[in-house]
Amino acid sequence: MRDIHCHILPGVDDGSPDLATSLSMLEAAKRAGITAITCTPHCRDPYFDFDAMWQAFYQLEDAAQGFPLTMGFEVNYHKLMDLGIQWVKALHTYGSADLLLELSVNASPTRFGDYERTIFQLQGAGYHVIIAHPERYRAVQEDLSLAEELVDMGCDLQVSADFIAGGRLGAEKRPGKELLKRGLVTYIASDAHNVRHYECFEKAWRRYSRYLRSYQGM
Ligand SMILES: [Fe+2]
Repeated sequence: MRDIHCHILPGVDDGSPDLATSLSMLEAAKRAGITAITCTPHCRDPYFDFDAMWQAFYQLEDAAQGFPLTMGFEVNYHKLMDLGIQWVKALHTYGSADLLLELSVNASPTRFGDYERTIFQLQGAGYHVIIAHPERYRAVQEDLSLAEELVDMGCDLQVSADFIAGGRLGAEKRPGKELLKRGLVTYIASDAHNVRHYECFEKAWRRYSRYLRSYQGM
């Protein structure tokens, strides 16, 4: 299956620091059953360097010996607003209309109204919006109906596999499980920053992939 969100590119964000680590992560991904990867470095401060990220992609692609890699970005909402929404043309997942969009962890429910306007704009321009790790957003943790609204708008939701261990911020396990069990989630992704995150992926996939909305294939 495809992993649609990870930080496997060497030396461009807070994920893999170098090519050797990236190749270890790739081996861990294969052991976890992943057969294709969309590389999604952070498009947010202080990491975003478009050219350097593409260079890192080519470097890993050369070293990956034919393993299917695709380039994309994890696009932070505020960074996209700073850059200008026309940047979506360069930031969607290469070869598809998918855009992996990261919202703010501490955004108020009111802020979600702004997100929805932007999402409609992106959808109107032909892009398919995938919301990165909704289980991490405080407003969603407090009110899962915000996640339902995003799905009703036509977004897909992607949970990050380390929710099974509490997640990056420690509060993601319950909302992650609940989103899955309510049938709101389309993708489980590794969101891997290191080798260990693929072990979470393997466990999360084994326990929760049956709740996904559709087959997470190629
Ligand atoms: Fe990420």
